[in-house]
Amino acid sequence: MFFPETRLRRLRMNPILRNMLTQTKVEVSDLVMPLFVCPGNNVKNPINSMPGNYQMSVDNIVTECKILIDKGINAVLLFGIPETKDEHGLYATHDDAIVQRAIKQIKKEISNIFVIADICNCEYTTHGHCGTIIDGDVDNDSTLVTLSEQAISFARVGADMLAPSDMMDGRVANIRAALDKNGYYKIPIMSYSAKYASAFYVPFREAAESAPKFGDRKTYQMNPANADEAIREVELDIQEGADIVMIKPALSYLDVIRRTKDTFNIPIAAYNVSGEFAMVKAAAANGWIDEKRIVTEILTSIKRAGADIIITYHAKDFADYK
Ligand code: PBG
Repeated sequence: MFFPETRLRRLRMNPILRNMLTQTKVEVSDLVMPLFVCPGNNVKNPINSMPGNYQMSVDNIVTECKILIDKGINAVLLFGIPETKDEHGLYATHDDAIVQRAIKQIKKEISNIFVIADICNCEYTTHGHCGTIIDGDVDNDSTLVTLSEQAISFARVGADMLAPSDMMDGRVANIRAALDKNGYYKIPIMSYSAKYASAFYVPFREAAESAPKFGDRKTYQMNPANADEAIREVELDIQEGADIVMIKPALSYLDVIRRTKDTFNIPIAAYNVSGEFAMVKAAAANGWIDEKRIVTEILTSIKRAGADIIITYHAKDFADYK
């Protein structure tokens, strides 16, 4: 049947019907809020390019987690700003490192929160790269050792899930084996499977003080032009034991999220990264866009593309819209 019998606008007339027919609904419980932990007491340093986000000391991180839970956001992803850095990122393998201290304190004070620890060396190395440098480049296999040690330490202090973001080959298998060997078989791995060498991470590097001091991350993060390769990365991570695969960034890579969804039967996370957040905030501050509508549309589109979990700096604001 065609027009005039068929009229698609019929289903758009009534707001109640429109609501019932809404195919994709973003829930606050789908969202993960990233947080930046720094040393000190009662520290809350605003991050310039990420309005509403702060480097916070452990005490303030705990307070922030309580506020988030009151708003219905039950999951956080932690990044650390350490008091010392070294060539290999060894600092982060110790149980008294900054993120570990935050996890212990959060777990001590809050029972109903899900704490995800990002596993990577870039915040902890003097050169800002994601692993040990040999011959001017990040050495894959020696980096696997520090990553696994970091993972074990996070598991030991109480992290609920681990999220390796380094893009070394074989890290999921390595971390899984290390976790299992130490009895942490219940802890899931959410792997940053298809992580692109993206210009959208720049505000994050200000927040985490993790910009590379030389070169770029193109020898380990993916070329933004490649989608087939993302499928290969995801497939390998699944074979290596990832429980959840992540696509990052989100907005410029919705096609990759959708292809992953259509190709594999595994939960998908998408990281709505710092640069995507900063662009929205900057335009909103100028009065050029309606922030609430834009954020809702962005998160809806990421979920519509196929993401189950969305990691986003908009989480707290979005919870307030509801
Ligand atoms: C660490 C890491 C980065 C992000 C998450 N984990 C930065 C990078 O790879 O340089 C970026 C997150 C964001 O931009 O919001 N490797």
